[in-house]
Amino acid sequence: MGRKKIGLVGGGQIGGILALLATQKELGDIVVLDIPEMESYVKGKALDIMESTPVLGCDAKVEGTSNYEDLAGADVNIVTAGLPRKPGMSREDLLSTNVKIITAVAEQLKKHAPDSFNIILTNPLDAMVYSFKKITGFPKERVVGMAGVLDTSRFCSFVAMELGISVEDISATVLGGHGPTMVPLFRLATVGGVPLTELLPMDKIEAIADRTRKAGTEIVKLLGNGSAFFSPAASAIAMAESYIKDKRRVFTCAAMCEGEYGIDGYYIGVPVLIGAGGVEKVLEIKLTEEEKAMLANSLEAVKKATAETGL
Ligand code: APR
Repeated sequence: MGRKKIGLVGGGQIGGILALLATQKELGDIVVLDIPEMESYVKGKALDIMESTPVLGCDAKVEGTSNYEDLAGADVNIVTAGLPRKPGMSREDLLSTNVKIITAVAEQLKKHAPDSFNIILTNPLDAMVYSFKKITGFPKERVVGMAGVLDTSRFCSFVAMELGISVEDISATVLGGHGPTMVPLFRLATVGGVPLTELLPMDKIEAIADRTRKAGTEIVKLLGNGSAFFSPAASAIAMAESYIKDKRRVFTCAAMCEGEYGIDGYYIGVPVLIGAGGVEKVLEIKLTEEEKAMLANSLEAVKKATAETGL
């Protein structure tokens, strides 16, 4: 059996880190695709990574292209094509431009990689995953959005900073849409099995939850000319790895809900199991009344953005 083929659609900030991480983890051979004006740039990035493989001790072929035929038969695609935020912009401000880009990408991937598993990162996330699914008509198991893994990772990193402890033993879940309405379920967060609520006072936990909701914006402000790219790339690679290696990990992703959590026909962040079958299952948590209300509020924001795609 040959290596897996991984298509990275969008070879910008996140795309470059995705290529490096996928190479380091030897997930497969990588094709980075961008628009024709960026073809030379992504060829340069790809070659630069290839030239690092002897030092890294990793075997992978990395190529840059603007031709979708080079993605023929891809096993996994990770889509970051689209504009990132600039300071002062919300993710929704990107919608009208990015829905056109996602539509074009989806049409091409439907044609050239009809059996692929697809992880979408383009913002506004939940609406863009919905659009990709609508245009490709791929089964819901094979179209998923990366957001909750990152939101959860942000929450866990803030907990580790606050407690001065390792990130390794922290477990948490952040549900809902990828934006200020997201729902950090701190009730269920644990550190080495110890409930977070027993380790930190509620005001500190609330502050961490609040920082998590605004964490993307915090990075956008600091960077000044784009949005986060290391942590989104690492999050998407964790999802791709679970699929490629059939690890069957459980984490929060934007998945198509069809009745779960009382949500029908929308992509939103919920815990899912990712294995060789793609999104094999949405796992349901019994929520408190307060959490239900927060998720309902988040769903409203997702519904609004989804409606604005016009799809
Ligand atoms: N097909 C392929 N690539 C495209 C297309 C297209 N139709 N349109 C734009 N691109 C490419 C751009 O040329 C650019 O190289 O997508 C890349 C996006 O890279 P960056 O601008 O560096 O953005 P990045 O930080 O990687 O974020 C990408 O992910 O997190 C989200 O909000 C973020 O929507 C943004 C996306």
